[in-house]
Amino acid sequence: MEEKEKDQTNVGAEGREENSKRGSGASLLEAVREEAKRALAAVRDSRALYEVRMKYLGRAGKVTALLKGLREIPAEERPSFGKRINDLREALEGEIDALEESVRRRELEERLAQEKTDVTMPGKRRKQGTLHPVTRVRNQLIDIFVGMGFEVYEGPEIENEYYNFTALNTPADHPARDMQDTFYLTDEFLLRTQTSAGQIRLMEKKKPPIKMLSPGRVFRSDDDATHSPMFHQMEGLVVDREVSLCDLQGMLDEFARTMFSGTSKTRLRPSYFPFTEPSVEVDVSCAACGGKGCSLCKGTGWIEVLGAGMVNRRVLENCGIDPDEYSGFAFGMGIERIAMLKYGVNNIKLLTENDVRFLSQFRD
Ligand code: PHE
Repeated sequence: MEEKEKDQTNVGAEGREENSKRGSGASLLEAVREEAKRALAAVRDSRALYEVRMKYLGRAGKVTALLKGLREIPAEERPSFGKRINDLREALEGEIDALEESVRRRELEERLAQEKTDVTMPGKRRKQGTLHPVTRVRNQLIDIFVGMGFEVYEGPEIENEYYNFTALNTPADHPARDMQDTFYLTDEFLLRTQTSAGQIRLMEKKKPPIKMLSPGRVFRSDDDATHSPMFHQMEGLVVDREVSLCDLQGMLDEFARTMFSGTSKTRLRPSYFPFTEPSVEVDVSCAACGGKGCSLCKGTGWIEVLGAGMVNRRVLENCGIDPDEYSGFAFGMGIERIAMLKYGVNNIKLLTENDVRFLSQFRD
């Protein structure tokens, strides 16, 4: 603002006054010409050039203002002075256009030189994500069992007592129902403690033959090196005529060979679950030592991997399936546990800490 006020060639009201005072305003025109020349000589880039163009030829430019000021000079001087202003304008336009071309060409050349790609430079490697080991094992399990004709069914994580316990023949006084083990949301609703709840939901809807695989998160009030309050399970359920424990073991052998090693074997030990009868715990021969005995299998040659059994006839009845006509087996395994065994991970927390140094080791 200050600068403008001092500016000799500012052709505002003052300028016009000057115009008329001096009659022709010729000296003002000369001043504008000189100033424009100097401004042009100082131009270094297209942006500055644009500013010069605007400052002199723009709608509020100084040359434009001179033309506007014509009105105020004596009529007889107008034609000749008008011509001089027009000449100045054309001359300036010509100079600016010419300069613009050379400035733009130079700028383009500079940019091309600057942005030249050196194809011999080493590339920037992009960090690539990897699938989480739990996801990998879950996908492998799905592949194995879908290959045997299982269908994937996912139940809800928030369950009610009926699906999680009652229908699974788990009586009200069973210790698993205790607050110590189960996260209750209300008296009736809870975070499911097992994917077995999905067995009931599916059997209520679908009648045999059934071959269901149900992966999902489960929640238990448990927390140490091998237990986490949230973990994943993979549930399997087969219901049909004449299904036997031998069918279960045959399928689990196939699972163990694919998941662990081509020579893996399984072993069934008697156990107890309210919803299976008989119930078994399934061990897989230790892949680390081939069954000879090592620190991983604590010298036994076997590692426990899952719980299973023949579906309790009461469970079938609860779902409206005749236990005299149909039988079935079910199994449930912890996906984290399988991942820990398969990859030699000794603390379950590593699977939830999301440490990239740990996770990036799981590449194909
Ligand atoms: N639901 C059982 C558990 O969480 C595992 C299991 C599933 C056992 C199916 C038998 C049959 O421990």
